[in-house]
Amino acid sequence: MRDGAVAPGGRSRPPSRAQRTVEGDFRVTVITCIEDLRVRARRRVPRMFYDYADSGSWTESTYRANEDDFRKLKLRQRVAVNIDQRTVRARMLGEDVAMPVALAPVGMAGMQHADGEILAARAAERFGVPFTLSTMSICSIEDVAAHTTAPFWFQLYVMRDRDFIERLIERARIAKCSALMLTLDLQILGQRHKDLKNGLSAPPKPTLANLLNLAGKPRWALGMLRTPRRGFGNIVGHVKGVGNIGSLATWTSQQFDPRLSWADVQWIRKCWGGKLILKGIMDAEDARIAADSGADALIVSNHGGRQLDGAPSSISALPAIVEAVGSRIEVWMDGGIRSGQDVFKALALGARGTLIGRAFVYGLGAGGEAGVTQCLDLIRNELDLTMAFCGLADIGHVDRRVLLNPCG
Ligand SMILES: Cc1cc2nc3c(=O)[nH]c(=O)nc-3n(C[C@H](O)[C@H](O)[C@H](O)COP(=O)(O)O)c2cc1C
Repeated sequence: MRDGAVAPGGRSRPPSRAQRTVEGDFRVTVITCIEDLRVRARRRVPRMFYDYADSGSWTESTYRANEDDFRKLKLRQRVAVNIDQRTVRARMLGEDVAMPVALAPVGMAGMQHADGEILAARAAERFGVPFTLSTMSICSIEDVAAHTTAPFWFQLYVMRDRDFIERLIERARIAKCSALMLTLDLQILGQRHKDLKNGLSAPPKPTLANLLNLAGKPRWALGMLRTPRRGFGNIVGHVKGVGNIGSLATWTSQQFDPRLSWADVQWIRKCWGGKLILKGIMDAEDARIAADSGADALIVSNHGGRQLDGAPSSISALPAIVEAVGSRIEVWMDGGIRSGQDVFKALALGARGTLIGRAFVYGLGAGGEAGVTQCLDLIRNELDLTMAFCGLADIGHVDRRVLLNPCG
């Protein structure tokens, strides 16, 4: 049995006939957790795009720590408390949300599944949680706006071409995006070995290795053949000199602006004029500057372990940042969330909201819009039950007291 599927009792057992026949996918028959979605996504998504999601930079130590450090936090079970009427509804940036979980910006989500960003945005809208569209998305801002009714958030990378940034901000405004999320931790790129080895590109280059791999992914390939959305929708056709993917590669490698400063943050805040979220804060000193900047929320994030390998996990960096600025700005976190319990633990350590990246990406790769909905359902259900086992009925009441060892 591959892919980590282990039978009860920890021993591997061969799949039964019934298991083998469900959707022809005997490794995962009933989806009960995000890990099941990951396994299915791995079977359905071409290797270069699956690897693009399931990897961190260099040794991947921070990528692994993001998940591992959640496991170190132990919960306090409480009993004989009335947990009949429960709610996990909350508010993020003043918006009502079905649970304090937003979909994080993910570049090239439209390569995990055809029309990926549109499908994920729709699933988020139906579920009642915020969706964030990446600058590096396949579906454009206008395309996502045309296929959804709820406002979404737009994530911005700062490029050297400031005219382009102004136009991008204007496009997000016209699309009625309700917040701008400015990512501060990717002006230079952490090295991800797998992407280099796989020759990552969108769409994939027609090499023999890619063609052989694609031959085993008919569902994915059919979806891609049917959609016109196969390039970077926010960029191609909107930048002088970039009309196709070839010229885009050169443009992006030269465009992320390493001179980005807090003065630029102010410039962007003024250009945008609406709610601003700062993403990629890992240090209390930076958090204080972020709070002083007038932004509405900050995200404790190490980019899912994809940038500075050797940085601490997001969950371990969270308490100091909450302590430093939690009364002045909404502090959220992302990195390593694979379950409702992880969300619960982040809230316990003071986060007022969380974001999920890979968890929904696996859902998308596994089953498109339905897969993202499944991911959200799994997380909400586990969040609700965990809260109840800890003797609480309202997610707004979660604090450090639900943890046995708040310091990890
Ligand atoms: C495949 C992938 C692409 C990403 N692309 C972006 C992006 O375009 N912009 C951004 O701000 N963050 C991006 N991130 C980081 C996520 O927004 C988020 O911080 C991270 O995924 C959280 O960790 P998790 O995946 O463990 O939940 C990306 C993450 C992944 C896995």
